[in-house]
Amino acid sequence: MKYKAYLVEENNGEFAGSVKELDVPDLEEGRLLIKVKYSSLNYKDALAATGAKGVVRSYPFVPGVDVAGEVIKSSSNDFIPGDEVIATGYKIGMAEFGGFGEIVHLPSEWVVKLPENLSLFNAMCHGTAGITAAECVNKIIKGGISNTLPVLVSGATGGVGSIAVSLLSKLGYEVHAITGKPDENEMLTSMGATKIISRSDFMSEPLKPLDKASYSSAVDTVGGEMLAKMISMISNNGVVSCCGNVGGAMFTSSVFPFILRGVQLSGVDSAESPINLKKELWNLLANEWLIDLNNQTKIVNIQEIDNEIKKILDGGQIGRVVIKHGE
Ligand SMILES: NC(=O)c1ccc[n+]([C@@H]2O[C@H](COP(=O)([O-])OP(=O)(O)OC[C@H]3O[C@@H](n4cnc5c(N)ncnc54)[C@H](OP(=O)(O)O)[C@@H]3O)[C@@H](O)[C@H]2O)c1
Repeated sequence: MKYKAYLVEENNGEFAGSVKELDVPDLEEGRLLIKVKYSSLNYKDALAATGAKGVVRSYPFVPGVDVAGEVIKSSSNDFIPGDEVIATGYKIGMAEFGGFGEIVHLPSEWVVKLPENLSLFNAMCHGTAGITAAECVNKIIKGGISNTLPVLVSGATGGVGSIAVSLLSKLGYEVHAITGKPDENEMLTSMGATKIISRSDFMSEPLKPLDKASYSSAVDTVGGEMLAKMISMISNNGVVSCCGNVGGAMFTSSVFPFILRGVQLSGVDSAESPINLKKELWNLLANEWLIDLNNQTKIVNIQEIDNEIKKILDGGQIGRVVIKHGE
């Protein structure tokens, strides 16, 4: 039996993706064969599709860190054919063929059942971006942050950033959004941001060892000097959830935010988060943290992925891109 997939191949150091027919693998012990209905595009998928170092072990390869679909064969006691499931992260789309193919063959311990109240499509409007944003927000909540000062979010029109803005707003926080796309004010306001800060304005003043304490906490998807600046502006006992590096990997900070204000810099690696945490977060996203992402989600098929990959690498994506398989 064959299935369609967006396969990335390497030719003399050049990487290119195209839609190919592949053989459905035989079911191995402890694994599931899943018919993928939806996947989604994340920054890591764009890196995988363009051969960036350190993401995919070997090519040809099918990217896609996110999967939502139906179990068609199971060798696990926890799942039966017909179960609707979600899988994100771990080695999916890095060492195991991912959701840009119509079939995946995954270890059952990476898979969660779709919670009631969430459709497969809505799960992929979130995808890894949503689980990451949820984990960032969870860290702020667990830090016992009060609502008296706003929470700052960087990369606010991107996948993780836009969902973080929506979740924080839904949960009653005042949200200030930093963006390089000031034209998207309306979109950010509709997601719940009360103030939009242009990235260039935010970065225009030089970094201080300790700046005015203007924010209770922050979600940073950008890294680099942006992260350093955010840390310097957090008030006492605030939490900075750090998850991304689109703006740079290295940053220089002083110790003062940490030793004079007790600020916590809290890293998020949602791919490798324990499956029980992922289950807990999916349940929150399906219930108390339910948000409508339809207006910030674009749907494409696997023939249309190339353009979207280019856009995300250029920092030009707005919101989320869901990949729909089949008709
Ligand atoms: N640690 C984890 O578990 C985890 C999980 C998922 C993603 N990530 C990381 O989180 C980051 C965001 O992922 P994503 O999927 O949300 O990507 P995305 O949709 O491309 O969003 C990134 C956003 O960052 C801003 N941006 C882009 N280039 C920038 C630059 N050079 N300087 C400053 N800001 C820039 C843009 O928003 P504005 O124009 O609004 O500023 C862009 O939309 C990536 O680094 C990704 O690898 C980490």
